[in-house]
Amino acid sequence: QLFEVSEAKPSGELFYPTYDLAEFSWDNLNHTLNHTALTAELRGVPATDPGGAFANGSLAFRVTAYEVGGRAGPLPSLLHTADSSQLQFILAGVAPRGNGSRFLLQLAAVEPPGAARRLRARSSIDDEYTPSIFQELLLQAEAPNRSSPLSFLQWKAAAYGAPSPRREDGIRCRAGRLRAANGSLPAAGLLQAFFGDSLGSACALSLLNVSFGGEEGHVYQERRYLSWSVLLGFGEPPRDSFSPLVISIAAVALGAPLAVLLLGACGLLLARRRRYSEYEPIN
Ligand SMILES: *[C@@H]1O[C@H](CO)[C@@H](O)[C@H](O)[C@H]1NC(C)=O
Ligand SMILES: *[C@@H]1O[C@H](CO)[C@@H](O)[C@H](O)[C@H]1NC(C)=O
Ligand SMILES: *[C@@H]1O[C@H](CO)[C@@H](O)[C@H](O)[C@H]1NC(C)=O
Ligand SMILES: *[C@@H]1O[C@H](CO)[C@@H](O)[C@H](O)[C@H]1NC(C)=O
Ligand SMILES: *[C@@H]1O[C@H](CO)[C@@H](O)[C@H](O)[C@H]1NC(C)=O
Ligand SMILES: *[C@@H]1O[C@H](CO)[C@@H](O)[C@H](O)[C@H]1NC(C)=O
Ligand SMILES: *[C@@H]1O[C@H](CO)[C@@H](O)[C@H](O)[C@H]1NC(C)=O
Repeated sequence: QLFEVSEAKPSGELFYPTYDLAEFSWDNLNHTLNHTALTAELRGVPATDPGGAFANGSLAFRVTAYEVGGRAGPLPSLLHTADSSQLQFILAGVAPRGNGSRFLLQLAAVEPPGAARRLRARSSIDDEYTPSIFQELLLQAEAPNRSSPLSFLQWKAAAYGAPSPRREDGIRCRAGRLRAANGSLPAAGLLQAFFGDSLGSACALSLLNVSFGGEEGHVYQERRYLSWSVLLGFGEPPRDSFSPLVISIAAVALGAPLAVLLLGACGLLLARRRRYSEYEPIN
């Protein structure tokens, strides 16, 4: 589901009618398959759009599969492995229904029996690959005995307001609380095929809201474009190691005072030795 909320001056937040993706009409994915780039794009608009917000726009999910590990070119330049794919959520040309509209995308994750989903935020001092973004979020399923990591979803806390994003097109992206959803699971054929009979009885559903924009929420208003990239995969999620640049800066920053200390100590020793040698033994 896609929520749209706007700051209404007297009464706090104003929610517009929700866009339910189950009620969208989707284009044929076959026409967007690219067998060399390993990409596909599923694009849709609401089946009924009385307000005309989607008259010039659409919502899309673009999937990129990978044959080898590496790093995506465009920002946020997510690191990937051969076992993962990148999923991009793209809102393009959709007219916001309020002046300062913010969009919230609600994600649903289905767990196999016994597994639990956890949301973790990791901070880094290294933003070389995603400038000015220091936070990474990980939504990971774990088996109870922690022996076998299951599926994961990993993203940087940023969305972008341009098809070829630059640093200044960044749109702040925040995750809400992960909530267990009691009751009915979505009746999707794909879920039924993947989980089989355990779907109804033993699988658990958790929900998470990811919101785009905020105080500085006018990027979408101006650009009418929002793209949010996540990495989807199985097993251990890839982690950024410190870049050589940061390592060398840290080495200089830590090494310089150490060198000064060592030099100082040597100088002191030499000075003391010299001072003692200036005295003549008494007898
Ligand atoms: C997409 O392509 C596959 C394989 O070529 C075909 O089986 C399927 O019917 C196509 N789907 C649509 C909606 O055209
Ligand atoms: C597939 O992607 C490649 C690389 O991005 C591009 O050069 C090519 O034109 C695309 N093919 C189609 C049919 O869009
Ligand atoms: C769609 O585009 C047309 C022509 O550019 C414009 O007149 C119209 O206002 C747009 N509609 C919306 C909902 O943005
Ligand atoms: C949006 O902002 C414009 C100018 O700031 C104002 O005239 C208009 O009433 C606002 N619309 C809403 C729905 O708040
Ligand atoms: C851990 O749990 C998984 C799934 O529940 C099970 O297949 C595996 O044998 C367990 N491993 C250990 C060491 O208990
Ligand atoms: C789901 O059930 C648990 C325990 O039964 C309860 O604590 C929680 O509030 C429920 N969540 C929702 C969204 O209803
Ligand atoms: C996401 O936000 C919408 C609108 O505020 C709310 O109705 C829904 O319960 C939220 N979902 C979660 C999982 O927090």
